[in-house]
Amino acid sequence: KPSTAPVAHQPKKEELDSEKYPGGSLTIYYGSQTGTAQMFAEQLVHDAALAGFAAKAVDLQDLIDDIGDTDEADGGAGSSTSLRVLCKSNETGGRAKAVFLMATYGEGEPTDNARQFVELMKTNAQIDNLYKLPDSSDPISSDLELLDYAVFGLGNKQYEHYNNMGKFVDVALYKVGGQRIVPIGLGDDNDDLEGDFENWKDNVLWPAMRAKYVAGAAMKREESNVMTLPSCVYEVEYLDGKESAVVSAEAADRVQTSHKHYVNAVDCYVVAKRELRDKSDPGSTIHMEIDISKKMNVMKYMTADNLGILPKNDSVLVEAVARALGYNLDQLFDLHPANKQKIEKHMLPFPTPCSVRTALERYCDLTGLPRRSDLKQLAHYARDDMDRKALLRMASKEGKAEYKDKIAECHVGIHDIVTKLCPSIACPLEHFVMVCPKMQPRYYTISSSSTVHPKTVHITFSVTEESKKGGGKFKGCCSGYLERKQISEPVRVFVRDSTFRLPKQMERPVIMIGPGTGIAPMRAVLQERAHWRKAEPNKKHGPNVLYFGCKNRTMDYIYRDELEAFQNDGTLTELHLAFSREQAEKVYVQHLLAKQSAETYKLIHDDNASIFVCGAVLMGAAVDHTLQDIIMEQGNMKREEAKGYLDKMALGGRFVQELWS
Ligand code: 2AM
Repeated sequence: KPSTAPVAHQPKKEELDSEKYPGGSLTIYYGSQTGTAQMFAEQLVHDAALAGFAAKAVDLQDLIDDIGDTDEADGGAGSSTSLRVLCKSNETGGRAKAVFLMATYGEGEPTDNARQFVELMKTNAQIDNLYKLPDSSDPISSDLELLDYAVFGLGNKQYEHYNNMGKFVDVALYKVGGQRIVPIGLGDDNDDLEGDFENWKDNVLWPAMRAKYVAGAAMKREESNVMTLPSCVYEVEYLDGKESAVVSAEAADRVQTSHKHYVNAVDCYVVAKRELRDKSDPGSTIHMEIDISKKMNVMKYMTADNLGILPKNDSVLVEAVARALGYNLDQLFDLHPANKQKIEKHMLPFPTPCSVRTALERYCDLTGLPRRSDLKQLAHYARDDMDRKALLRMASKEGKAEYKDKIAECHVGIHDIVTKLCPSIACPLEHFVMVCPKMQPRYYTISSSSTVHPKTVHITFSVTEESKKGGGKFKGCCSGYLERKQISEPVRVFVRDSTFRLPKQMERPVIMIGPGTGIAPMRAVLQERAHWRKAEPNKKHGPNVLYFGCKNRTMDYIYRDELEAFQNDGTLTELHLAFSREQAEKVYVQHLLAKQSAETYKLIHDDNASIFVCGAVLMGAAVDHTLQDIIMEQGNMKREEAKGYLDKMALGGRFVQELWS
């Protein structure tokens, strides 16, 4: 019988059954932003049991907290002694084994939950520059000599510093004495991240793990028997009464660290909303203002920070799913770990007790693209043979093309599967909660200055709408949710720091490149710089140069009036407009930037300008290339040197890219 091992359950020394787990214990650490690395970790926990290891998945932030506790006992902060927590093994005298699943976020950066771990490893491995990793030369210490490890990186080839975090952790662990079990695996989300992961774990990791640690022990790999219900990590307890509007501290404590946003986000009210594009444009970009004055204690923001938004599924979908699965939406319930285990800290996926409606509306991602492994899990619940076989087929490696054709390109979400495609699915609530991907927060770059608008947060977003293969439209979950919001309705939000920081020295120039919705942080920067020009007229204020692009000046030249006002009051020194569709040949921001080669280099090299780029990945890559061309041409450098020049600017916070695909 297949089972999903309880993720947060720590096998105790005396509990470890050497017959069941001849491989001993294994810890799977994950640095996850959108939940994929965490999901992979949960898959490894499951696989580990079949391969003969007692595994648990650990959020890297929790590891840091653990180190903090050890540190307090040792009296040192982040010392190498405390790093040895990683070598803690459950078998007496045995070596510790760990797998690190490291997602790389944005421009080669760690995920939020891995930030402190990366800092700690940088110090201990003496690696200052994350963009210049040392070759695996000799270790510099033996702090982790009792650790065997393997690393898998989750990245995207569209970004320049592909899988930087995976590569960094792989090298850093080696530098402090860790022993690699297998070479690093790299997954590319631009192609087939899941396939890369499956290939690495099934063909590289597990064979090596079995050979090394389970040698000789005959492993019975259990075949999954889809006819029986798989075991579940949760139990549901139905309760009488109504849902409480506030989450108690105790309930908050039980929520997994990587899902803390479900607890920390607050409801703030929409106070303004307007369409920015002209009616003649079929697309939509919306300007929204959200009142934070009543939540100032938790909603403090800095110019160009990000606003995290927790969207809700459309109630029509929620009701259809409940009908298909036979749930009562108003029923209150609590979750417990299965088998009457005690609920420990950070065990549950979301705050409970809550109503079934809240769970389906807020915590289950009903519309996102299910991964192939999600289909495999759902197949366990299909009563009809045809449904089950179809799901298993599309979940298999051979069924990749069918998955692409019938699921990905048709924008099928879990709601379509349980209500329409495989209506024979019968899934008890605790299983649905376990199997359904969790709703992730969406991040928007705040488009207002915190100095000028301390009590409201402005966002600028385009409404994602795509045609589905076979007809119909698909609307993005969060932009669709925001589009439905009316003035004086609440939105659940939180603030997250961003890498955009304005130079403290007002005299420094700022070059901004933000076509389309990429204008958002530039608007905030301009508000801020305009404010200080007025507030401190006797100081020197550096030039502000903006490159903006859109289709043409009548349809989607958003914030035109504001940009013109910034031009008139002298804040905006140069405004370069790329109207891509006003002539036969496309004109993009990077083309205009290339024309300002000498001027741009002077601003960067002589006047210490900061460069901010925001918008689509392809634009970002083209701008990066153009900046390299400029530096090569004006600074007489080779491409590698120009790249190094930009990397150095990035390290100093003077070159910041916020890109989305
Ligand atoms: P297009 O849609 O006419 O191709 C905002 O979306 C603006 O960015 C539009 O004018 C769009 O042009 C343009 N754009 C599209 N792809 C781009 C790229 N690779 N680099 C720069 N700008 C791009």
